[in-house]
Amino acid sequence: MQDAAKLDQENPLGVDGFEFVEFTGPEPEAMISRLELMGFTPTHVNPANDVVRLKQGDITMLVHRTPAGQAADFAKDHGPSANGMAFRVANAKAAYEGALARGARAAEGVHGGALANDYPYVLQGIGGSLLYVIDQYGEAGSLYDAWDEIEGWEEAERKNSVGLEILDHLTHNVRRGEMRTWSGFYNSVFNFEEQKYFDIKGKATGLFSQAMIAPDRAIRIPLNESQDENSQIEEFIRRYNGEGIQHIALTTANIFETVEAMRARGVDFQDTIETYFELIDKRLPGHGEDVERMRKNRILIDGSDEEGLLLQIFTQDTFGPIFFEIIQRKGNEGFGNGNFQALFDSIELDQIRRGVIKVDA
Ligand SMILES: [Fe+2]
Repeated sequence: MQDAAKLDQENPLGVDGFEFVEFTGPEPEAMISRLELMGFTPTHVNPANDVVRLKQGDITMLVHRTPAGQAADFAKDHGPSANGMAFRVANAKAAYEGALARGARAAEGVHGGALANDYPYVLQGIGGSLLYVIDQYGEAGSLYDAWDEIEGWEEAERKNSVGLEILDHLTHNVRRGEMRTWSGFYNSVFNFEEQKYFDIKGKATGLFSQAMIAPDRAIRIPLNESQDENSQIEEFIRRYNGEGIQHIALTTANIFETVEAMRARGVDFQDTIETYFELIDKRLPGHGEDVERMRKNRILIDGSDEEGLLLQIFTQDTFGPIFFEIIQRKGNEGFGNGNFQALFDSIELDQIRRGVIKVDA
């Protein structure tokens, strides 16, 4: 999709959605198995570096089976982790040069990323991760065509899919005081806009969240920053040994079927307090959803008459502290702000039970 018209003032680097997220860690086969449980199917292997591509719908996840360079260093520093992500752009060379001119920094020298060391258009991303700009994607002229194809993957994908379609958004957890660094980065380099700002307070801890949206409206990156030393954001940063991707949200056209299929395979989801489900009809009168089926699956709902609805659920920590979200949008373009508070409360309750934080009775 070499759409020169997209290289305009509003979308100066021609961004056009997420292409992939890249993972590394000490047990790559376990990571691949986890992704397969979630409905992803291995389709290609990069012969240059033994990186496996897993696909479902329009989503690509890459896993380093034999990490080297940055991927090896990242695994050593962070354990199971996301060491890179890619934005699709209209023209990679133009976007890369434009990004450098607009203040991004090149990933220096031999980067060791998933696309192998001869891929030139790689920037420095959050927490030492790699940020690629890529202009060959999709099934036509895909960059994976040059990789070794796994025989029969199309049929295998059809059988294994749980209905996930698109990488909707992913979040970054940033260190205290760094929210503006990263909102400024995405704004000045890619012309992301600030979408919504939330101040979320629990009983003892809190966080700020600033949602950033790219000019193509398809790349969305909410940034989370702690308000104190003990919140779940700080706990993530300690556990992950740095800033990085916190959760990755994937869309489905039928969240009930997707989540039921994932549960049947043994994927673990975050639980929600029982009273949440009792309050849905009061909070969102006339929502029209099957609350009993939501309760059974612990699926959350948010939105309003004006903004439309969304259904969502979060997995348990999957790769180190990184987890996934399954989301079905029904006109709502937010991130589940109302649920954000509910989720925050439920995680904080867990922190209190584990003794990580204390509240006065
Ligand atoms: Fe989310």
